[in-house]
Amino acid sequence: MTTWNLQQTRCHLLICNGGSCMKRGGEEVTQAIRDEITKLGADKLIHTTRTRCNGRCADACVVIAYPEGVWYKDINPETGRQLVRRHVEGQQLEEQILYSFDRQFIASDRAVEGIAKG
Ligand code: FES
Repeated sequence: MTTWNLQQTRCHLLICNGGSCMKRGGEEVTQAIRDEITKLGADKLIHTTRTRCNGRCADACVVIAYPEGVWYKDINPETGRQLVRRHVEGQQLEEQILYSFDRQFIASDRAVEGIAKG
């Protein structure tokens, strides 16, 4: 059991490890993201969590960044590393954004809309 000190945490990356994402390299994405965080000495700034399916399997591999609420699609090990570098700089990986709480569905021209809730 682990209990991290989160006082310096500025970003939380949820890395999808659901079935579809795992079939498309989710383990390699997870390892690349965590390796890049360590390489940059950013372990105190960025916390990561493996998740189950996030309901956007068509966009595998999915990574979600908080507190911004940015959903990334088609993440591979290299774009995962870029994503970490951008977030360390306080930026986002614009090319891979699927959805952002602030900006709504900005990648709708490149993404499956999905099933309406409710
Ligand atoms: S398995 Fe990752 S979104 Fe479904």
